[in-house]
Order: sequence, then structure tokens, then C-alpha cells
Amino acid sequence: MIAESGYTSRRKAEELILAGKVLVNGEIITTLGFKVSDEDIIEIDGNILNKNIKKEYYLLNKPREVICSVSDDKKRKTVVDLIDTNSRIYPVGRLDYDTTGLIILTNDGNFANILMHPSHKVEKTYIAKINGILNEDDFKKIRKGIDIDKRVLKIKHMKVKEVDKKKNTSLVEITIEEGRNHIVRKFFEALHYDVLKLTRIKYANLTLGNLKSGEYRELSKDEVRYLYNLK
Ligand code: URA
Repeated sequence: MIAESGYTSRRKAEELILAGKVLVNGEIITTLGFKVSDEDIIEIDGNILNKNIKKEYYLLNKPREVICSVSDDKKRKTVVDLIDTNSRIYPVGRLDYDTTGLIILTNDGNFANILMHPSHKVEKTYIAKINGILNEDDFKKIRKGIDIDKRVLKIKHMKVKEVDKKKNTSLVEITIEEGRNHIVRKFFEALHYDVLKLTRIKYANLTLGNLKSGEYRELSKDEVRYLYNLK
């Protein structure tokens, strides 16, 4: 950790440890390779080490039956389990257990706060498969504004992509800025439809691209910079 932080070389770091100049949480350590976590306070010659942890940013195509959390008391698979890293990353916002699609994970708290803050109005686009076909009456209600838990949901964009008259289902694309839990399902419930499948296909300027279910990639520096600038 000392060498990783850029404080000094690995060899010098070992010398400092052997000289008894390194404290972890107030205790002198003299074992080389002593394991520390992000929360441990490391002191060298009386100075607290700035660990300068590398920031990581991932875009995951979340499969169904994976929970958007860092751990689960029911031992279900989490989005964090799908990413190969030792960093303490967590998802930015939530997708339901049965929702698939685009979710960002990071260990950068500032970045996550920017994206989740309601004032930054990050657009999210979903495709919902519903058990019915929207009619004129529904569109009238949508134009008037659908009240969800005493707050009107503002729809940025909505488009019926496909209608299957035989099966009585449709695919609807919907773009919103809101991040309230279960908001898309609640929106369709308010119109008396059930959401049979839900996928997030876009988050701000990011799309799933070629990522298959369960696959992920790191965000590029430009993508991170763009999202930081939403502030
Ligand atoms: N809205 C929902 O209802 N569920 C999600 O997972 C995301 C948005």
C-alpha cells in the first residue's frame, strides 16, 4: 500500500517497515507484506499516508436475478460479484432484481453523488415489455401527468416500439430523469399494466454497445470527464 500510494519505492517502504517507522491504526508493524484495507490508517514517520486509491469506473450489463447492492443477506448474487476487482466498488443507483441492463459501478463517491443527485437530471432510457397495448385514454393520462406516490412523473420521451396484438403485449421505450425506486413499474401500474420485462438501455450518454448480459467494461477517461461535468 505504501509503494502503491506513490509515497516511496517498494524497497524503501520495506526499509521503513523494518525500521519500525510504520504504524497501522496506531500499532507499529514490522512484518513485510502486512495486509491493510482502505479503512486502515497508515502512519509513516508521524505522517498519515494519503492512500490515493485508484478510482475505478465500470459499465455493466446487469443480468436478471442479480441484486444491485454490495452484499446480500439472502446470499443472492450481487452486481459487485460480477466485476473482477479488489476495490470497494458499489452500484450508482439501483436496478430491480429482475431488471436487466446498464448500471455503473465505482469506488468514487464524488462521481456517484453527482450522477445520483436529482438536480443533475441524468436521463435514463428503458425498454419495458408490458401486458397490454396503450390506448388514447392512456396517452391522455400520460400527457396530463401520472401521479406516483404524490409526485408527478415527468416523461422526457416515450415511444411504442412494437405491438403484438395476438399476445396482447407491447414494447415501450421511455426516457426519464427520475431515480426513484421501481419508478417505471409504478408508472405502468398506474395505467393498469404490468411490466413483464424491463431493461435499461441508456444512462446519460452511455449505451450498452456490444456488451452481452453479465459483461462489463471500464469507462474511458473521456466518459468519466463528461459525466463529472454534468455537475
Ligand atoms: N424503474 C423500475 O421500476 N425498475 C428499475 O429497475 C429501474 C427503474
